[in-house]
Amino acid sequence: MLTKIWTVDKTVENLYTYPQIIEAAEVLQKNEVVAFPTETVYGLGANALSDEAVNKIYEAKGRPSDNPLIVHISKMEDVDKYVEEIPEQAKKLMNAFWPGPLTVILKVKQGILSNKVTAGLPTVGIRMPNHPVALALIEASGLPIAAPSANLSGKPSPTKFQHVYKDLNGKIAGIVDGGETGVGVESTVIDCTEPIPVILRPGGTTREEIEGIIGSVGMDRQVKEEVEKPKSPGMKYTHYAPAAPMYLVDGSSAFLQETVDSMRKIGKRVGILTTDERVNTYQADLVVSCGQREQLSTVAHHLYDALRQFDQEEIDMIYGEVFPREGIGVAIMNRLLKAAGHRIIKEHTSNR
Ligand code: TXA
Ligand code: MG
Repeated sequence: MLTKIWTVDKTVENLYTYPQIIEAAEVLQKNEVVAFPTETVYGLGANALSDEAVNKIYEAKGRPSDNPLIVHISKMEDVDKYVEEIPEQAKKLMNAFWPGPLTVILKVKQGILSNKVTAGLPTVGIRMPNHPVALALIEASGLPIAAPSANLSGKPSPTKFQHVYKDLNGKIAGIVDGGETGVGVESTVIDCTEPIPVILRPGGTTREEIEGIIGSVGMDRQVKEEVEKPKSPGMKYTHYAPAAPMYLVDGSSAFLQETVDSMRKIGKRVGILTTDERVNTYQADLVVSCGQREQLSTVAHHLYDALRQFDQEEIDMIYGEVFPREGIGVAIMNRLLKAAGHRIIKEHTSNR
């Protein structure tokens, strides 16, 4: 399939009247798949009302169809069309964070959206992205747009046009190139069907920000366990994974360097994932910074691009630093643990 590319300047006014956006929207109306930038990562969009269109998303990504998709809208009022009711807490969250990196899970209204979007669940995830290109495209199409991240299943999510192109060129009808995304990690997914909402996936809107609006919320057991007791390697699916196996190192930079040295001594080509503060202090076959440790939002922004850089070199294994699990650090560690298949090496410090 020939993949059409539309380059769009996101600072242009009235983007939804822009010829490139109108053309891309027409392709969506024909039930074809179009990738587009959002403030978090690039999405792989299709008409959420059509089984035929949504099937094409799963096919292009190679994604198991039991994993439901988020529906993207451009206007707050549109939520009512797709859900049974909007509980008070969900309303408060939407008012506080939309447009923005928060997906709310609500009870789906039967018979409107394609069943392929919800993977047969009685609920649906909805969000309004905070990106002028995404909003203009949704608006111009006049459709609710189902969109997972626009990467091949298992790969790090795309934060640049080039990432989408590498994974999906030839497999989808088009890509809207709107430059780099902003936040860099995906939206926070919060289940609002329970009396006390529960965060199912940490992301661009932090737990602290959410609790500042509606008070205490829950954290999904799986996400919590990951934080409290790292799981054994070899989980069911790998996510966000670079080509070479990755290990997280919970310890000093001297310990990380020693670990790397021991592997290089036996002939392995080793990569290190670190931050600006330490990028010049390590020795390895490839050292990549994913931002400033002192400003975790920069790490979120660069994380997936940094992970993808290891795919361009002949690297046998990657060692990465860990981050504090506060604010956006919770989402960063959630993604890093998945990328590393939950492999963590802890430095044993002796108690004198
Ligand atoms: O930032 C984002 O959310 C990006 C951009 C493109 O909007 N999208 C994204 O989609 O990350 P995806 O498909 O890669 O991740 C969607 C997540 C999955 O973890 C899925 O299981 C969860 O949302 N999800 C979707 N609908 C759900 C539902 N009804 N109940 C529970 N989880 C749901
Ligand atoms: Mg994804």
